[in-house]
Amino acid sequence: MLAEAVRLLACPLCTSAFAEAGGSLRCEEGHSFDVARQGYVNLLSSDSAAGLGDTAKMVAAREAFLHAGHFDPLLDAVAEAAREAAGDEPGAVVDVGAGTGHYLAAGLDRMPDRAGIALDASRYAARRAARAHPRAGAVVCDVWRALPLRDGAARVLIDAFAPRNGPEMARVLAEGGTLLVLTPTERHLAELREPLAMLAVDEHKAERVDAALGTQLVAGRRTEIETEMELDHSSLRDLATMGPSARHTDRAALDRRISALPGRLAVTASVTLTRWRVGPDS
Ligand SMILES: C[S@@+](CC[C@H](N)C(=O)[O-])C[C@H]1O[C@@H](n2cnc3c(N)ncnc32)[C@H](O)[C@@H]1O
Ligand SMILES: [Zn+2]
Repeated sequence: MLAEAVRLLACPLCTSAFAEAGGSLRCEEGHSFDVARQGYVNLLSSDSAAGLGDTAKMVAAREAFLHAGHFDPLLDAVAEAAREAAGDEPGAVVDVGAGTGHYLAAGLDRMPDRAGIALDASRYAARRAARAHPRAGAVVCDVWRALPLRDGAARVLIDAFAPRNGPEMARVLAEGGTLLVLTPTERHLAELREPLAMLAVDEHKAERVDAALGTQLVAGRRTEIETEMELDHSSLRDLATMGPSARHTDRAALDRRISALPGRLAVTASVTLTRWRVGPDS
């Protein structure tokens, strides 16, 4: 596993530092975790792993959709904001709920020499994220628990459509570091809500995010990114399969709904990118 990533990780059982030896990470207290053949380490204890994180099918659909470039304006905006926020200060880029690692990789591409860490509860996601960039390491963990990172390890945190644990994010951010949060607006994928029975964005989403992060972190500049995508049936299937709505719709019903749509459909992607900094009272 990437040595720089190993140096920034903390043992989930005792918070001490890791060293890599013989295909495992071993902490100062002797707790040991195997590095998987695919290059990621699973720091989640097996009894807490059930049901957490995206399935293999969801991750494959996300990979296909992002690879096709439909969200490139979103990826570019996050990557540029990460580069800007990092400046010349030390510290890693950590993607929380990283999925396939596309956002992390786009950021690292713009920052020569900086290491990245992808955190996700899904081992299918971690498997992809471990291959997303030569300077990225991937870790399976539950981000609602203590993040398996040393205090101040991250110069930039990325959180795109993923769970947000305010106190832990504040703890792992370096002094002066930045958390970048990407959240959908109410216009995001609005054209598909009815025809594909996709879950609507909660109209109070922005307020809920602010409330969850606001006690440790201070919101800074917000940028709206909106783009129109031209999606064919295959991309529509990927989009519906990669998101939370997939858990409520079976494949045959989804195919029926998609086949009733035109061969190409204009769909809006609309998100808010918010920059958060560690607040004065944390
Ligand atoms: C909507 S996806 C976003 C993935 C990626 N950030 C992107 O935008 O492409 C949410 C991700 O959060 C992960 N996730 C959900 N609950 C989690 C948890 N408790 N701990 C860590 N990751 C979690 C899922 O496995 C999934 O990869
Ligand atoms: Zn330990």
